[in-house]
Amino acid sequence: MNMMNSRIVGVGHYVPEKVVTNHDLEKMMDTNDEWIVERTGIKERRFIDHTKDTCSNMASKATKMALERAKLDINDIDLIVFATITPDYMFPGSGVLMQRELGLDKKTIPAIDIRNACSGFIYALSIADQFIKTGMYKTVAVVGAEIQSTALEFSDRQRHISVIFGDGAGAAILQATDEAGKGILSTHMHADGTFAEELYVKDPGSSRKQGERLTKEMLEGLSIKAHMNGNVVFKHAVVRFMEVIQEALVANKKSKEDVDLIIPHQANLRISNFIQQKLQLEEGKVYNNIQKYGNTTGASIPIAMSEAWAEGKIKENDIICLAAFGSGFTWASALIKW
Ligand code: COA
Repeated sequence: MNMMNSRIVGVGHYVPEKVVTNHDLEKMMDTNDEWIVERTGIKERRFIDHTKDTCSNMASKATKMALERAKLDINDIDLIVFATITPDYMFPGSGVLMQRELGLDKKTIPAIDIRNACSGFIYALSIADQFIKTGMYKTVAVVGAEIQSTALEFSDRQRHISVIFGDGAGAAILQATDEAGKGILSTHMHADGTFAEELYVKDPGSSRKQGERLTKEMLEGLSIKAHMNGNVVFKHAVVRFMEVIQEALVANKKSKEDVDLIIPHQANLRISNFIQQKLQLEEGKVYNNIQKYGNTTGASIPIAMSEAWAEGKIKENDIICLAAFGSGFTWASALIKW
């Protein structure tokens, strides 16, 4: 079979207007700007206005920006791959809602939802890449969108979580190319379910028996909130980020000097700085925008790609490395010749 490569031909993003600073959070719980900046690098994040923003409509705005930059039309899309852990509904997934929101002439294009948390966008990119490589689809919209804010609890018991997360959406349009050595050079994905409960939301899940999926006690307790063992997540993240970046380089016979920009999932500025130091990269080679948006889970990489591109930090023929780690645990990388 004659395999095609896939190329990212456009990137876009959308973030809600409402800016929430660390000082705003100080008024809601026992925290302070100094602690948040020192431990996470975050200065502010965006929270949705629920009269305007939904997970799927933020994603469709990001997709429209990506299409415009690619000089393509909504009707060019053959497939939607949508990464989110905060879908509009329990089911169906946000992919079909985005398809409806876009209002395509091709009304029945498929939509796949991916729920691999912080690694979700790279998983989605990898899936889209395989469909293009086999020739099944030519143009794929790969999106990551999250609304974390409405699930956060602004209380002392949840302060280690509620200061980290934010809302937003990002998108990349992938198209088939027959230019050799261009586009997505490789993707690598991993998972280790041993650590599933180190970063998770338990309820309301199907692990509960009949009639106990959502109880009054749950509404008061913590099982419907995100549980994160921050130290364990941090320790695994730094190791897996490094491994999966090295894996991408080795698979493509590239050295770190060949890479123009690393775009890590925006989990924590200390994790990004660790990567930069370990790889002994010069300032500016690891892209960060967590300072402005916090951790937007599956949306963080496409938002960062879109901003980096708009700032002229991603140019034609640049080698870009994406890397992510998160709940699951899952981790993944993609090496791209732009
Ligand atoms: N404001 C002020 N103090 C806070 C706080 C907040 N928002 N959250 C926690 N603290 C306090 C704790 O109560 C603790 O106090 P104590 O020493 O008196 O008990 C102290 O700060 C240190 O807490 P700890 O949880 O050990 O902090 P940490 O240095 O590990 O940083 C994280 C916490 C969450 C920032 C860090 O573990 C981390 O970034 N982990 C990875 C998270 C991540 O990337 N998650 C996304 C998955 S991709």
